[in-house]
Amino acid sequence: MPIKVNDPFKKLNPKFYPVWITKKSDIILTGGRSSTKSSVVSQKLVEKKMRYPMGNAVILRQVANTLRKSVYSQISWALHDAGVANQFIFKANPMEIIHKKWGTGFHFSGADDPEKLKSLIIPVGYVQDLWFEEANSFDGEKALDTIQDTFIRKVLPDGREMQTWYSWNPERNPYHWSNEFAKKHKNNESYLVHHSTYMDDIRGYNSKQILNKIENYKKNDIDYWRWMYKGEVIGMGDNVYNADLFHLIDELPEDEHLYGLYFATDTGHMVSATATIAVGITNKQNIVILDTDYYSPKGKTHKKPPSEMTKDLYDFYEKVRKKYNVPIYQKTIDSAEGGIRNQYFNDYGEHIHAVAKSKKVDMIDYVHDLLAQGRVYVMNILSNKIFMDEHKKYQWDQKTLQPGREPEVIKDDDHTCDCFQYFVKDNLRQLGLKF
Ligand SMILES: Nc1ncnc2c1ncn2[C@@H]1O[C@H](COP(=O)(O)OP(=O)(O)OP(=O)(O)O)[C@@H](O)[C@H]1O
Ligand SMILES: [Mg+2]
Repeated sequence: MPIKVNDPFKKLNPKFYPVWITKKSDIILTGGRSSTKSSVVSQKLVEKKMRYPMGNAVILRQVANTLRKSVYSQISWALHDAGVANQFIFKANPMEIIHKKWGTGFHFSGADDPEKLKSLIIPVGYVQDLWFEEANSFDGEKALDTIQDTFIRKVLPDGREMQTWYSWNPERNPYHWSNEFAKKHKNNESYLVHHSTYMDDIRGYNSKQILNKIENYKKNDIDYWRWMYKGEVIGMGDNVYNADLFHLIDELPEDEHLYGLYFATDTGHMVSATATIAVGITNKQNIVILDTDYYSPKGKTHKKPPSEMTKDLYDFYEKVRKKYNVPIYQKTIDSAEGGIRNQYFNDYGEHIHAVAKSKKVDMIDYVHDLLAQGRVYVMNILSNKIFMDEHKKYQWDQKTLQPGREPEVIKDDDHTCDCFQYFVKDNLRQLGLKF
């Protein structure tokens, strides 16, 4: 017995009406953050599920371990919202939400486990919806195509077609395959390409708190806001960072004090420099670059052995700790090079934490986020000059900005830039950049 839920005209932001009623087979939803696009897809899938008892939805993300906190909870929310959650069984393994009577429902999988994906069996009914959430993080159009092919085989009743939903926040890099994918299908008859932003949320689902946060981004860094919240493909630019967002200060603002210290080290090899930055976090969650220790072996006849480098590192930690007299929360080091880490453990019996690096663009994005919130200060002292200089000069490698390439930076004089990225990446939660 079909059940009617989710009257779109009561709940939906009008911008999404065309999405709700479309019969097209492929629906691309790009947009800025908080535009309600994921909610709309989940509500639509629930509406269709209840209308067609034998219909199933397959919901995918690139990485399986992100499913539970995103799409699985999103569908659970939509089922509760529609008042039908009690008709379903929620399972963790395999991850699915199944209607108690009909045996059909929502099946979740990560594309990072092709075997599991292949063995995803839909025991009852047919697949009427396929949703690629955060589609930009999949390997490419070909990967989406291959997955789509496996689900498109069964014939749907009443001449209906399976619908595929793609949702994501655009990459800033115009050459990213996902941007080309959206552009390419704009004039394709069987595709609906839709773009939305938080400003389309005229029903006011976004909290005052998030709206204030967005306004703050807009005030500090309009480019970041255009990208993150308007969902514009703003490009990479030449310079990685906008130097104006590193606020030079002579002393802490009057109503701020440090509560903790952090260090991050980028270790060089025979000829490249080793740098460590000392960072403080204030009671207002601002970040202060307090000091920089920089050693370059270039042109030196006596190059410091590791035992001397670790002594310098120890002395730097101590110097900063004594000066600011607040606890040290984390010491981070480049994970690529174990030499100094082992030497330090040998000399001082302490493990410096090796950062779990991710793709360069992603590490840089976290720094952008922090900068765009207006939270980064740099103590205006001589030893920090190198930090400022390197960040000002830091550039994208233009020849990597092209289709099919991962954007790379020019790796000259970028040691403090690496330090700062390691600091941010190693402390995402403390910095409020990840929950
Ligand atoms: N019908 C609704 N009822 C209540 N809250 C809603 C509704 N639709 C959306 N929201 C809320 O609005 C906020 C933004 O929605 P959503 O997460 O779907 O946006 P998004 O565009 O997918 O965001 P992101 O780009 O961050 O993934 C969420 O907090 C969501 O819970
Ligand atoms: Mg979303």
